[in-house]
Amino acid sequence: MQPALQSSERATLESISAIRTWTPGLYSFKTTRPPEYRFAAGQYARLGLLTPQGHLVWRAYSIVSASTDDELEYYVIDVPGGAFTSQLRQLVPGDPILLDRQSLGVMLPERFTDGEDLWMLATGTGLGPFIAILREATVWQRFRHLVLVHSVRHPEEFSYRDELLELQRAHDSEMAELRLLQTCTRVQPVGEEAHLHGRITTLLQNGELERHAGLKLMAESSRVMLCGNPAMIDEMRELLKERGMRPVRRDTPGQYLAENYW
Ligand SMILES: Cc1cc2nc3c(=O)[nH]c(=O)nc-3n(C[C@H](O)[C@H](O)[C@H](O)COP(=O)(O)OP(=O)(O)OC[C@H]3O[C@@H](n4cnc5c(N)ncnc54)[C@H](O)[C@@H]3O)c2cc1C
Ligand SMILES: NC(=O)c1ccc[n+]([C@@H]2O[C@H](COP(=O)([O-])OP(=O)(O)OC[C@H]3O[C@@H](n4cnc5c(N)ncnc54)[C@H](OP(=O)(O)O)[C@@H]3O)[C@@H](O)[C@H]2O)c1
Repeated sequence: MQPALQSSERATLESISAIRTWTPGLYSFKTTRPPEYRFAAGQYARLGLLTPQGHLVWRAYSIVSASTDDELEYYVIDVPGGAFTSQLRQLVPGDPILLDRQSLGVMLPERFTDGEDLWMLATGTGLGPFIAILREATVWQRFRHLVLVHSVRHPEEFSYRDELLELQRAHDSEMAELRLLQTCTRVQPVGEEAHLHGRITTLLQNGELERHAGLKLMAESSRVMLCGNPAMIDEMRELLKERGMRPVRRDTPGQYLAENYW
């Protein structure tokens, strides 16, 4: 008989409360949140599920919720044959899932000690932590401009677009201005479609990213957060280095922070 998930010193037992499907391979889900669970926007949780063989598998997922929300939200891609996502995709509201008691991650905008403009560069589900960050007031008060760049393979993968446009509209003169740049890499835009075409790295090199943002990406004023595909992050590190930018370290201020998803 399959062992049941149970809470422990390490983890609490939560349940799925809602699921929203964006495309056949992309979805967001919410779980219950223990009242004592604390996290900062930009951090991730570790979730646990059992495989059909009865092995407990843990994976990291960025929290999409604002830190004050009653539930915890995550944005996930289904990895065909993936040990965790193959189980996750079968869950329905009411099903149990383990939540590690400790939130993790140091990709936090408050780690930038200076800078005027915050650039958030995401591939695929790397968008998640930036939604959490934008759902809170802090960055809107702290920076002059916020630039969110989201790169996906196909345009139907621009999840959270309506909420982002709403956040952009809700801006007032006391707050930062949000510039939303969406780029898709495997399909050319048709007619009036508002998104860009090409990888973030290519758009930075050919000047399109800065042109569309209406801002220069430079060490003096720009702070950068990178999240998602590790190859994008490696290439971006080199491009930022060429612009005189360094990573933020525990004891050394810098201009960028990064989180690899695999
Ligand atoms: C700090 C951190 C935060 C993360 N946050 C998220 C998140 O918010 N949403 C999310 O979907 N995943 C996230 N991941 C990845 C997640 O932890 C799992 O690795 C992923 O869900 C696949 O697990 P799996 O066991 O099904 O597949 P595995 O058998 O572990 O297969 C892993 C392979 O799947 C591919 N892959 C894994 N994650 C992704 C992804 N997000 N997008 C595209 N390809 C991927 C890679 O090729 C990788 O080698 C995060 C990872 C880390 C380290
Ligand atoms: N369920 C399904 O039917 C299905 C279908 C396809 C894929 N998948 C799975 O989904 C995963 C891929 O997910 P995804 O598309 O969200 O992630 P992804 O492959 O990381 O692609 C997301 C974005 O990142 C870009 N990118 C990739 N490498 C880059 C680099 N070195 N520099 C700059 N940009 C880069 C991609 O551009 P490019 O397009 O140019 O690479 C794309 O725009 C795979 O694990 C695959 O197994 C599932």
